[in-house]
Amino acid sequence: MLYPHIRQQDPEVATLLDKELKRQREGLVMIPSENFASQAVLEATGTVLTNKYAEGYPGKRYYTGNEYIDAIEQLAIDRAKKLFNAEHVNVQPHSGSGANMACYSAVLEPGDTIMGMNLAHGGHLTHGNPVNFSGKTYRFISYGVSQENERIDMDEVRQLALKEKPKMILSGATAYPRIIDFETFANIAKEINAYAMADISHIVGLCLAGDHPNPVSSHDIVMTTTTKTLRGPRSAIILSRIEDRLKTHYHPDSEKTLAQLIDATVFPGLQGGPLEHIIAAKAVAFAEAEKPEFQEYQHQIVKNAQTLAQTLMHQGLRLVSGGTDNHLMLIDCTSLGIGGKDGANALAECGIYTNFNMIPFDTRKPFNPSGIRLGTPALTSQGMKEEEMEIIANLIAGVLHDIHNTSLKEKIKTKVVELTQGFPIYQEL
Ligand SMILES: Cc1ncc(COP(=O)(O)O)c(C=O)c1O
Repeated sequence: MLYPHIRQQDPEVATLLDKELKRQREGLVMIPSENFASQAVLEATGTVLTNKYAEGYPGKRYYTGNEYIDAIEQLAIDRAKKLFNAEHVNVQPHSGSGANMACYSAVLEPGDTIMGMNLAHGGHLTHGNPVNFSGKTYRFISYGVSQENERIDMDEVRQLALKEKPKMILSGATAYPRIIDFETFANIAKEINAYAMADISHIVGLCLAGDHPNPVSSHDIVMTTTTKTLRGPRSAIILSRIEDRLKTHYHPDSEKTLAQLIDATVFPGLQGGPLEHIIAAKAVAFAEAEKPEFQEYQHQIVKNAQTLAQTLMHQGLRLVSGGTDNHLMLIDCTSLGIGGKDGANALAECGIYTNFNMIPFDTRKPFNPSGIRLGTPALTSQGMKEEEMEIIANLIAGVLHDIHNTSLKEKIKTKVVELTQGFPIYQEL
């Protein structure tokens, strides 16, 4: 029986867990930042490691009884170093937002200038939005996409960098469907003596499989969440060089290496005890990512995204930048005469889960913007391929062209359930 102890002790929670599992099983999870972690990753998150306090790092803890915890955390570090070919890895950040905070504050002072991607053009909240700690603490200068082709213009990025002289150039995005030219970002950062940082939370799996350039060797600091295309637990890691390339420039008096600055900022700078059960789940996910099937899976994510995008466009929908190179795409709802929120809600009524999103040069407000963001990582984990993407794109287009048609939405909901039955998830649960 599923969750026997919760069911016995707390039927209220058990009932909600059952309903959520059914929702995930019978819906199409197309939010590009969501995925289905393996059963092994899920198991690791529910282990006795949740009971242990382990402030500090392996071999240097402030509590006793950490011999096995140390071994697990060291395993996660070693696996991540090998997987990413990274000089240094910190596996303790609880989340992507906290990890970004640690990266900035490890090497910068409040008020320092960082260049990051405009939120409305695909950047993340923690890349300088004024309502977020990032925008409140640092002076963020934003680059965006060009109006002409909705892609990042690297000449403009360079001009802005030369003019503003940021101490860090941050690349990476949460809603950008095209390849990011990490090498040029790193070169611009070198040219102006700035730290090069990349946030690869969304595309990490693609970077590992060679479906997207990988910034680890060219950048000083790389942050990634471990959910999304990496298919691990909800958490994050920070990869970095050991030596601080800019030490004499920015930290002339510091004895610390870049690796030490980052470690000291994560703990004790920002966090207390690490979530060792989640760190164990990260170790499991890193081992899974070493397997050839993981590479195949990433290639299929991209192939599926291509088919989904092509079919949506054949159905008359406009995609930002005219398509995708990665796992996600943005539908521009403007010509449909609806907001992205209206569209995403209509799709959700049919069991198709996406999220509404700003698009570049959006004329609408963030709470009902013009875009719908969707992607293929979770559907691909279920085993769906190009054939299913065509079917799904046709269903999506049908709903978006007629969002108030209740009988159509009911029919599509039934089709969605039928489709998911051929691709069951978590069969052992
Ligand atoms: C690019 C990027 N960075 C950071 C984050 C923040 O991660 P978290 O939600 O774990 O705080 C996200 C999450 O969606 C993201 O897409």
